[in-house]
Amino acid sequence: MAILLLLPDTKAEQLAGLLNKKLAGEDIRIWPETGRPEEIDVAVVWAHPHGALKNLPNLKLILSYGAGVDHIFNDPDLPVDVPICRFVADSLSRQMADYVSGVILNHRLRLIDYREHQAAGNWHPWMPRRGNKVTILGLGQLGQATARQLNTLRFDVTGWSRTAKTLDYCHTCHGQDMLTEAVCEADYVVCLLPLTEETRGILNGTLFSAMKKGAYLINVGRGDHLNENDLLDALYQGHLGGACLDVFSEEPLPSVSPLWRHPRILITPHIASVTDPENLADYVVQSFNALKQGSSLKHLVDRQVQY
Ligand code: GLV
Repeated sequence: MAILLLLPDTKAEQLAGLLNKKLAGEDIRIWPETGRPEEIDVAVVWAHPHGALKNLPNLKLILSYGAGVDHIFNDPDLPVDVPICRFVADSLSRQMADYVSGVILNHRLRLIDYREHQAAGNWHPWMPRRGNKVTILGLGQLGQATARQLNTLRFDVTGWSRTAKTLDYCHTCHGQDMLTEAVCEADYVVCLLPLTEETRGILNGTLFSAMKKGAYLINVGRGDHLNENDLLDALYQGHLGGACLDVFSEEPLPSVSPLWRHPRILITPHIASVTDPENLADYVVQSFNALKQGSSLKHLVDRQVQY
């Protein structure tokens, strides 16, 4: 059985090094040095070259290098019957919960505004902002971990998801019909949805007008959830108070993008929740062993809903 790593940059060498230790004696290959394609059983992928998987006739498992799997479904030649698993880890949930809590607390305490005042030697105290209501769109692993942490920080949290969920640390609502209701009272709206045909462009002018004046948007889902022009309009009109964006339709964000220079947009370079290679290697080992022993695979993706 061979494992093929189809990963950008130095990720493949790093993961191969870890797997060679943890799975000593197993056959680990790095794309494009595929060798005989019929020997590949498992592919670990991140933004892989489209069409590369269809040439592996005995492929039995596709593992995502990250929590999201939209990059896999983007491949028009994705083999139709190979199981796909996504990466789930406490380290990813912890980072996401910290990132979102940090952004909200920063905004509430106006720390960035104080940094500007500091540069001008300006002593000007403010009361913290009052807004305490947070709505999280998406109640998967990352959404739930974030809701739990914000609840511990005494925010009033609502979670919105596709299907009904009951959680004891946040109010919940679900389905398209309840989307407006979910966001209309929120001081902060956080997008943690998977990117699917249903959620693409969900952060648009219609949603923004349903949000209350001065509300703050945090997008940590995918760039294609957001209509950037609608966001710029909502900020220009003074309807939204600000936004923090970690993900973009085009990454790296092009230098000509007006988002870079907007005074009420905070930009980070897709770092809200980053895969720890050591944790990922453990997950590859676990999945590889499950496949070998014929036991059940963890974190299987439902191809119907694409997450
Ligand atoms: C990062 O965006 C991921 O999907 O893990």
